Amino acid sequence: MVDGLSIKRPIGVLISGRGSNLKALIEATQRPDFPARIALVISNRPDAPGLDFARAAGIDAQVIDHKAFGDRPEFEQAMTEALQASGVEIVCNAGFMRLLTAHFVQHWRDRQLNIHPSLLPAYRGLDTHERVIAEGTRITGCTVHFVRVEMDAGPIIAQAAVPVSPSDTPEKLAERVLQAEHLLYPHALALVASGQVRVEGERVVGGWHAGESMLFSPEPDAAGR
Ligand code: GRF
Repeated sequence: MVDGLSIKRPIGVLISGRGSNLKALIEATQRPDFPARIALVISNRPDAPGLDFARAAGIDAQVIDHKAFGDRPEFEQAMTEALQASGVEIVCNAGFMRLLTAHFVQHWRDRQLNIHPSLLPAYRGLDTHERVIAEGTRITGCTVHFVRVEMDAGPIIAQAAVPVSPSDTPEKLAERVLQAEHLLYPHALALVASGQVRVEGERVVGGWHAGESMLFSPEPDAAGR
């Protein structure tokens, strides 16, 4: 689609649940100058609340229930066929809770993004906020990265740092990180969709922040200690 001077690249979003990141992506992609549009939302769960965000926005939302398929490759083939039928060029995993085979990951290599609620490579996997709090980690955050076969690994596109408070519960911290996620995911997608970043080796080139400022917790005193 040509919109003014910008070409909006068709993306697909994979979800399994709440869909708050999908909602953030819907809102961002509705901006006329955003370099992508959502062509298709797929949920592997029929009851995913996030499907309603897509439907309310008039976006094609399909349920491809993994339980309806004999094995993982068949399920993934159905997803790839649906994505291709919608002309999808970039896939965004947004709270998509199925492990993907090497075949699917390779097919969408450097065209599939994921968001994870930690500063990768720290705290891969589930229950990140519980573990951050249990270990007294001072600064956490979120990461958008290209998907690789290993879970929560792959070239980092963008990160946001979020301070941890001593009174945080996992729920409070999750809420603070989620606010950052909703800013970060559209930002990272825009970098990819507009061609401002590329992968060299296993590192993303381009899209880096020029600043060299530092974030301390606790802050050093006046003497700089
Ligand atoms: C987010 O915290 C995301 O980082 C993780 O799963 C959660 C999905 O939340 N991968 P939502 O469905 O986007 O609200």
